Amino acid sequence: MGNLLEVNNLSISFTQYVQGLNRHDSKVISDLTIDINESEIVAVLGSSGSGKSLLAHSILGILPYNANVTGELKYKGAVLDQGLKERLRGKEICLIPQSVNYLDPLMKVSEQAIGECKDETEHKEKKLRQREIFSKYGLDESVDDLYPFELSGGMARKVLLSTALIGDPDLLIADEPTPGLDAKSVEETIQDIRNLKEHGKGVLLITHEIDVALKTADRIAIFYSGYVIEINDVENFKDADNVLHPYTKALINALPRNGFKLTEGVQPLGEVTGCPYYENCPICLDKCENNIPELEEHDGVMIRCFNFKGANDGA
Ligand SMILES: Nc1ncnc2c1ncn2[C@@H]1O[C@H](COP(=O)(O)OP(=O)(O)OP(=O)(O)O)[C@@H](O)[C@H]1O
Ligand SMILES: [Mg+2]
Repeated sequence: MGNLLEVNNLSISFTQYVQGLNRHDSKVISDLTIDINESEIVAVLGSSGSGKSLLAHSILGILPYNANVTGELKYKGAVLDQGLKERLRGKEICLIPQSVNYLDPLMKVSEQAIGECKDETEHKEKKLRQREIFSKYGLDESVDDLYPFELSGGMARKVLLSTALIGDPDLLIADEPTPGLDAKSVEETIQDIRNLKEHGKGVLLITHEIDVALKTADRIAIFYSGYVIEINDVENFKDADNVLHPYTKALINALPRNGFKLTEGVQPLGEVTGCPYYENCPICLDKCENNIPELEEHDGVMIRCFNFKGANDGA
């Protein structure tokens, strides 16, 4: 199973000028490491504002100009720099954007789904593929000539999904592909993502819906306050005892079928000096206040915690 994408120690911060005078850097993603293999779906699960879309945008090379980025991305072993991102974008690496605002308001939806073509032959081929994929999602021929403002929310999301699939990507980044869709379309989207996997493709599935992640993914990465705190196989998420981080356990216990045991507290915003979960953690140690644990491998699980079960074995 080949490695498609590697993200190593990615950090993203924004420079902001308070009252035009004081420069202030706010970190939104910290030391993020994650990888995706061929034929694999990795879900990134995190609450609103935890940096999920920024991760997607950094892979596509479409971060805002004021973002400061450190760390390294690799695609199929090659360093994924801005030039390569631009060459692969919309072809080998495609994005289903989170917001329908990514649709060009002045362009018919079929034309934007087809995208730029080098000649008439390519345009014809892609037009056929566009029609085929649109039909599959119940977007009939009359939709081709519509402008984005003429679409309902659900139709617009289907156009975004179809547009990403027309590119025939090896790596699909799906940023919240399901909200606003009816139950049947959610199932279809999940099925399509799984089909890509069956065809050897890799998918980064960004979501805050744990059930979508559980139904779709092979591995789940848990985001907390800009940090990845655990990456574990989906099977282990069936039982809170089989995941390692106390926040991951809390997430699983909060599921309706586990009695909605909600956790107290909010995620810290901005920089922390210790473990980002320190304030809310039921098992924190003194050292967690002022030391940030590294993301480390433990029996095939990536975990960022000083005190998970087994952490101090043999220490
Ligand atoms: N251009 C920007 N300048 C300053 N801060 C930004 C900028 N873009 C995003 N941020 C901040 O970065 C943080 C992460 O944003 P991001 O959109 O990645 O979150 P998210 O996890 O995708 O959230 P959601 O689930 O709501 O989509 C947010 O706190 C946001 O305010
Ligand atoms: Mg987002």
